[in-house]
Amino acid sequence: MTTIDRAKLHALHQREESRFLADHPKSAALYQRAQSSLLGGVPMNWMKKWAGAFPLFVKSAKGAHFTDVDGRDYIDLCLGDTGAMTGHSPDVVAEAVASRAKEGITLMLPTEDAIWVGEDLQRRFGLPYWQFTLTATDANRFAIRIAREITQRSKILVFNYCYHGTVDESFATLENGVVGPRRGNIGPPVNPAETTRVVEFNDLNAFEDALKHHDVACILAEPAMTNVGIILPDDGYWHAARELVRRYGSLLIADETHTICAGPGGCTAAWKLDPDMLVFGKAIGSGIPGATYGVTEEVAQRIAARLHLEDVDVGGIGGTLAGNALSLAAVRATLEHILTPAAFAHTIPLANRFADAVAEQIRASGLPWNVARLGARAEYTFAPHAPRNGGQSAATADFDLERFLHLYTLNRGVLLTPFHNMALMCPATTESDIDLHTQIFAEATAELTS
Ligand SMILES: Cc1ncc(COP(=O)(O)O)c(C=O)c1O
Repeated sequence: MTTIDRAKLHALHQREESRFLADHPKSAALYQRAQSSLLGGVPMNWMKKWAGAFPLFVKSAKGAHFTDVDGRDYIDLCLGDTGAMTGHSPDVVAEAVASRAKEGITLMLPTEDAIWVGEDLQRRFGLPYWQFTLTATDANRFAIRIAREITQRSKILVFNYCYHGTVDESFATLENGVVGPRRGNIGPPVNPAETTRVVEFNDLNAFEDALKHHDVACILAEPAMTNVGIILPDDGYWHAARELVRRYGSLLIADETHTICAGPGGCTAAWKLDPDMLVFGKAIGSGIPGATYGVTEEVAQRIAARLHLEDVDVGGIGGTLAGNALSLAAVRATLEHILTPAAFAHTIPLANRFADAVAEQIRASGLPWNVARLGARAEYTFAPHAPRNGGQSAATADFDLERFLHLYTLNRGVLLTPFHNMALMCPATTESDIDLHTQIFAEATAELTS
């Protein structure tokens, strides 16, 4: 097995840092200017974590490409971490949004688009009733509240190293079997051990042990983990887990925000899952803020039994702009024209092309890495075999190596998803886009291992 020489990695990284600085004078100047008005010089603090001395400032984006303020063109395999999985600014969505924007943006009243979208979501995912929010985080938070209310239980269950947005209860990890705040958790309202049970994915015994306390309102889960590398469920895992959820009177929330990459109905449709609630955000409106949660008939009836009209506006499930006319117009156009079976027939083979080529290069260079895939998404990790759970995957993280590879590809015109090594395909991605990444990846691994 080939090992990475750390001194060489460091030297190569320095070289790439210099190239990045030389190539991006306008982004550098904007970043400098931003220091005096934006906290940390960025709109969101995590933007500082991009590989390179500063984030690129974007001029425009269309389809699978974007251009930065220095006039450089990039193939975007990050696609706004799934927010732009539709491709940037699809014409049909841009037109629907422009036309809606002229006819009323937000009213606190429904538009007919909401019904069209609810009917489409019904067909895609099989759950009958839908509500709208502006972010997947909010949809998850509201689904959790509902689960707590209708089960009258206090705790939620998540998988170790999950990510479901900025949901307080989910920022918990297992350290030597003990639940505590995830590293980096900023100002947790309480120790998440009070609110949350955490188990490893693919461990049915631990799953059942966590449910045996009869205090778990819901399990918030991605059908396949996507935020700590792609981790697929073992054969039969979800069937058995679903039975346990029922047996112990809990509820299953499937967060399909990323796993929608598996197909038009996400993993729920592709694998015939049977969640009690389902969450889907980000790509649902091609990046125009919008998200949704759906519930089964039974959950709907249990909600109706506990909610009183007089209190519905102050119950902690809200959002003045949620379900607004503009958001729903974007969602309708996206579902009707973009996230279609035809789109997935194009993007899934492209993700396979990416994964096959990267796997072949890993094999040829003798590096102890592997590639995982889920529909239109593929990702390589620095582990010899596909990790089966979040703890295993997190243990193989290599911050320096990851940053080097991201910077190397960025300097040659390809943007990977930051903070892991993920590539996502959109309807506008082409085979030659993928082949350029393959060529760059091969050059990077050759330099690392020569
Ligand atoms: C699986 C999953 N669910 C929910 C979210 C939250 O999405 P948002 O940040 O748009 O609220 C994310 C964000 O990365 C996610 O990966």
